[in-house]
Amino acid sequence: MDYASIATRAQAARSAGQQIVLVLGLGFVGTAVAGNLARAEQGGKALFFVIGLDRDDAAGREKAGALDLGRSPTYANDPSLERVIRECCLTTKNLVGGVDPRLIALADVVVSCINLDVQRAPGQTEKLTVPTEGYAAAMRMVGAHMRPGTLVTVESTLPIGTCDRVLYPALCEGQAKQGVDVKAQPPKLAYCYERVMPGPDYLDSVNNFWRAYAGVDAASADAARDFLALYVNTAQFPLWRHKSTRAAEMAKLLENSYRATNIAFIEEWSKLAEGVGVDLFDVIKSVRVRKGTHDNMMLPGLGVGGYCLTKDALLAAYGAEKLIGIPAEMPFSRRAILTNERMPLRAVEWIERHFAGQLAGRKAALIGVTYRPGVNDTRSTPSEIVARALLERGATVDAYDPLVTHWDELPHVHVSQDPSAVLRGAQIVVICLPDPLYRPFLADALKAELTAGAIVVDPWNMIVDACAADFARRGIALEVYGRGDYAKAAAAAVKG
Ligand SMILES: NC(=O)c1ccc[n+]([C@@H]2O[C@H](COP(=O)([O-])OP(=O)(O)OC[C@H]3O[C@@H](n4cnc5c(N)ncnc54)[C@H](O)[C@@H]3O)[C@@H](O)[C@H]2O)c1
Repeated sequence: MDYASIATRAQAARSAGQQIVLVLGLGFVGTAVAGNLARAEQGGKALFFVIGLDRDDAAGREKAGALDLGRSPTYANDPSLERVIRECCLTTKNLVGGVDPRLIALADVVVSCINLDVQRAPGQTEKLTVPTEGYAAAMRMVGAHMRPGTLVTVESTLPIGTCDRVLYPALCEGQAKQGVDVKAQPPKLAYCYERVMPGPDYLDSVNNFWRAYAGVDAASADAARDFLALYVNTAQFPLWRHKSTRAAEMAKLLENSYRATNIAFIEEWSKLAEGVGVDLFDVIKSVRVRKGTHDNMMLPGLGVGGYCLTKDALLAAYGAEKLIGIPAEMPFSRRAILTNERMPLRAVEWIERHFAGQLAGRKAALIGVTYRPGVNDTRSTPSEIVARALLERGATVDAYDPLVTHWDELPHVHVSQDPSAVLRGAQIVVICLPDPLYRPFLADALKAELTAGAIVVDPWNMIVDACAADFARRGIALEVYGRGDYAKAAAAAVKG
């Protein structure tokens, strides 16, 4: 929507007692945040008039334009998402999209949800580029347009030290450009990291969940607390106030690194279990009975995907070294990233061994393309690592994923919504995603479409029980991460 129309609506909303909130960045986080704010109400009245602002480029205009049509800029299998966006954009009309930075001047609160990527070559974690300057430019833009007194909260995941060393100075610079005396009127900047979980509880994971905040000073922290308390279910999920923005930055990074490291840790036990003939899935289930200390132990799998767990551990060391200037080796966290990155390649090694290194011209079928069930986000998926490795070795690759029509990172790979068509004639199958929705048909489709000589890699132990006997009888190889017992049983079955 154009600037003048939004300004008129915002003026009317302010007169009606609504706060104006501008959400910067309409990606996976920004969409959920904007939808949440727009659905917040008190006494049947919307609390906020929400403006979603994205870049003035083709992708940004498309996202902002989606809101004007009453559609979500991102997909999630959360049935409330499309309903909330439609109602707020078309019925209550308190949610709009735009690309004009002058919209920032209308806001009482700016919530920044833009991305900050890590650029690095695979196989190492020492040489990184984290374009904090791009984020600083966005904050300068906000500072150059916002009214003094506006609260700016940042929800993106940041290297430690970014708020105090990079974003606050940039915000001050922007304000000074407007002629604001930042000593007399310091900008309010708070860090309120986001824990949104794309999937069936996408919207609720923003406001019906634990939230934390910190400010560059007490006034900023208090303002962030008061703002969050308006739309977060604090009765059930009290807010956590961190002692500094660095502490809040660290909390988010530690949370994700902890998970990534636990996943990496299980990989070495998977290999061990395969070597010594043990079913690691069963072993982990037996250990998980120890509630409180062991009940969230990870299970083996193809790898770690998504935009967050594949990068966040590296942001801690990067911030310490580059922004604060202290050495940060962090060997566990770095090693975890590398282990997780290599994990999908084990599937390819098995496939190469099966075909004595001759993969050229063989048809491969990947089952699942996204990084987790129920989303259409294909960023940094283990399936991409598998696909690239197979393509490099000359195989042809097709994929099945009901939620993906175009694989942005691998546009030449055909993604179909018909699993049987993808499996037909395949000599290589990798089950890349353990989506429970695949369970009712996958085993039958594999049995129906595959022929002798094919190999199936099932890193998640999804179809082993249903297919192992049939495959062994028909000469179809099956490899499973962490199922050493299966490898022995299959060998015995073939001998028998
Ligand atoms: N995806 C998740 O599940 C998740 C969860 C928690 C935290 N995070 C963190 O939140 C941040 C955003 O993640 P995301 O997945 O939403 O990213 P995304 O890439 O889906 O969305 C970012 C959006 O910001 C826009 N943008 C970038 N620069 C801009 C600018 N200067 N002005 C206006 N718009 C701009 C982009 O066009 C894009 O639409 C990241 O730091 C991420 O690590 C993500």
